[in-house]
Amino acid sequence: MYPLIRPRRLRSSEAVRSLVRETIISPNDFLVPLFVVEGKGIKEEIPSMPNYYRLSLDNLTKEVKELWKMGLHSVLLFVKVPDNLKDNKGSEALNENGLMQLAIKTVKNACPEMLVMTDVALDPYSSYGHDGIVADGEILNDESIEVLTEMSVSHAKAGADFVAPSDMMDGRILSIREALEDEGYLNTGIMAYSAKYASAFYGPFRDALDSAPVDIKNVPKDKKTYQMDYANRFEAIRETQLDIDEGADIVMVKPGLCYLDIVREIKNEVDVPVAVYQVSGEYAMVKAAAEKGWLDHDAVMMEQLTAIKRAGANIIASYFAKDAVKLLG
Ligand code: PBG
Repeated sequence: MYPLIRPRRLRSSEAVRSLVRETIISPNDFLVPLFVVEGKGIKEEIPSMPNYYRLSLDNLTKEVKELWKMGLHSVLLFVKVPDNLKDNKGSEALNENGLMQLAIKTVKNACPEMLVMTDVALDPYSSYGHDGIVADGEILNDESIEVLTEMSVSHAKAGADFVAPSDMMDGRILSIREALEDEGYLNTGIMAYSAKYASAFYGPFRDALDSAPVDIKNVPKDKKTYQMDYANRFEAIRETQLDIDEGADIVMVKPGLCYLDIVREIKNEVDVPVAVYQVSGEYAMVKAAAEKGWLDHDAVMMEQLTAIKRAGANIIASYFAKDAVKLLG
């Protein structure tokens, strides 16, 4: 008795494997997160994110030109704000000449066609390290939305193509969408972090921006009252559907690898593009294991990125974007 069918035929050489391969990673898949700091000539490595840097505006110019040449045409901007500019309301977020607003203009000057997306949340600006306003041990929803909405309009005004609210307040997408329409920013997109989980994988990012919740009495130590419980699945669909109904153009699942079941479910459920954020902790794990010689960096990176795309991601926000594109050649 021979096997009736021999699936191994389609795996017998690299030529046939590449012929039948279902998922191909390309530069077009990536959204590149960038960390911006005040100052000049600064390119400081983030200790928990080897080979990833905080850049001052002059180096941001160099970086985006390099990205553009590599075929990486979309960036997601984050800023590290000095402590003396932080307060509970994230007032600095609304400064027309604030670091984010300048960063947007810097990228557009350097590379007019680069797609610029901006993080919208209060944490880098918050003296308490929360995504919204804190009062009596709670994160205020509606008051936070007001600031997040103004912040979004300010980013649009500075030239952002998309705003990316990562705060998980209820109803913020509708509020932001209405404000953008009212102010005439009809073409500004919204990429909503829709299923954003309260994850321990954000640690290195909070180092990068010095944005972790602070350990003070009456300030929540974690983000579990707004970011989602990682035990939940149906809630992710509900959050995503709400964001679409409120006007999101792109929805996002975050983190990546541990949440690919959610990615697939959402992909099957909705008809807007789905982004996945492979977060800082996922990056750090691969770098650390590779440094020890325990994992093959490039092989693991490509396996993870391909898995994220195979699960249904149309867009991958990843700190590996440059590494991956260099490898693709
Ligand atoms: C802030 C924000 C976070 C990330 C993106 N936007 C951190 C957090 O929610 O605490 C995490 C990204 C990463 O870990 O790479 N709203």
